Amino acid sequence: MTTMPAGTDSGTMTTVVTGASTGIGLATAVRQARAGDRVWALVRTPSACADLAALAAAEGLDLRIVACDVSLDASVDAAFAEILADGGRVDRLVNNAGLFTSATLEAETIAAIKDVFEVNYFGALRCVQKVLPGMREAGGGVICAVTSNSAQAILPSWTAYAGSKCALEGSLESVANEVAAFGIRIAIVQPGITLTAMRGKISARPSPAAYDRTLSRYRTMIAAGRTESMDPDDVAIAIQRVLTDPASPFRTPVGADAERNVALRRSIDDERWVRLFAPVEDDDFYARWSELAGVPDARTVADARLLDPSSR
Ligand SMILES: NC(=O)c1ccc[n+]([C@@H]2O[C@H](COP(=O)([O-])OP(=O)(O)OC[C@H]3O[C@@H](n4cnc5c(N)ncnc54)[C@H](OP(=O)(O)O)[C@@H]3O)[C@@H](O)[C@H]2O)c1
Repeated sequence: MTTMPAGTDSGTMTTVVTGASTGIGLATAVRQARAGDRVWALVRTPSACADLAALAAAEGLDLRIVACDVSLDASVDAAFAEILADGGRVDRLVNNAGLFTSATLEAETIAAIKDVFEVNYFGALRCVQKVLPGMREAGGGVICAVTSNSAQAILPSWTAYAGSKCALEGSLESVANEVAAFGIRIAIVQPGITLTAMRGKISARPSPAAYDRTLSRYRTMIAAGRTESMDPDDVAIAIQRVLTDPASPFRTPVGADAERNVALRRSIDDERWVRLFAPVEDDDFYARWSELAGVPDARTVADARLLDPSSR
C-alpha cells in the first residue's frame, strides 16, 4: 500500500467505483485502472461482468470486481471489509450507482420512491461512511458523487430521482464541511444526458390523463436533449479531472445541456422556474423555454423516435 498522501496524484491510488457494471461507472473504472489506480469495481452481479474481467486481464489492469448492492447494509459491509482488508484505506471513492425513474407524483408509490432513495441517496452515504475513517487517519482522500444536472434544474416527473439527487447533494455539502479540516475533498459531478442503459431500465407508470400535456412537453425536451447526448467516457473524463485536480469546483455540470440547464436555473427566480410548464398553449411554452435557454424550439430538434410515452 502506498505511503503517499491519500487522494493526491502521487503513488498508486486505491479507487472504489460503485455501479461499475455498465455506463459511466464502467467507463470510470476502466479509465482509472488504465491511469494506474488499483480499482475496486463494485457491481451487483459479478457473474454478469465477464467482459470487464476479460478486459482487465487482457490489459493487465489492477482492477478487482466485487459484489456490492449499495441498497443493502450487509452487502456494503462485506464489500468494504474485503477492500479495507487489502490496504487499510481507500484514496478515492466514486459514488456512481444510480437508479432513474420518471413518474408524476400522482403515479408514484411511496415504496418506489424509497427504492430510489435506497440506491441514490442511502447507498451513496453507506459507502461514504465506510471510507471516511481511513481517509481521516491518512489525512486525505477524494469522494466524488455522480448526481445529475437534474439536482439543480428540476423538471416534472422527477419527484423520486431529482429528490434523491438533491438530498445527496445537500448531505454532501454538510459532510464536506465536516471533513475539510482532515484534508478530505468532496466533489459532485452533474452529468447531462448520457447514452447509457439507464433510461431503458425503468418501467413506465401511467399518470392521469390530465398530465398528458406536461409529460408530452417533458418528453419533447428530453428527446431534444438526447440529440446532444454524451458518451459515458466523456463523463468518466470529467470524473477523472475532479479526482485528480484539488482545485476542481464542488459542483461540476458535465455536457452542454447540463451546463446550460444549471446556468439557466441559477439565472431565474424560483417562482418563474416552477411555472415554466404552466402555459396553456404549447407555442407559448416552447417559445418561453427557447428564449430562456437560448436553444431552438425543442419540437424542431427532438428525435421523433423518443417521443412515445414509454421513452423517458
Ligand atoms: N445516463 C444519464 O443520462 C445520466 C444523467 C445524469 C446522471 N446520471 C447518473 O449517472 C450514474 C450512472 O448511471 P448510467 O447512466 O451510467 O446508467 P447505468 O448504465 O444504468 O448504470 C447504473 C449503474 O448503477 C448500478 N446500480 C443500480 N442499482 C444498484 C444497486 N442497488 N447497487 C449497486 N449498483 C446499482 C447498475 O447496476 P446493474 O447493472 O446491476 O443494474 C449500474 O452499474 C447514475 O447515478 C445516474 O443517476 C446519468
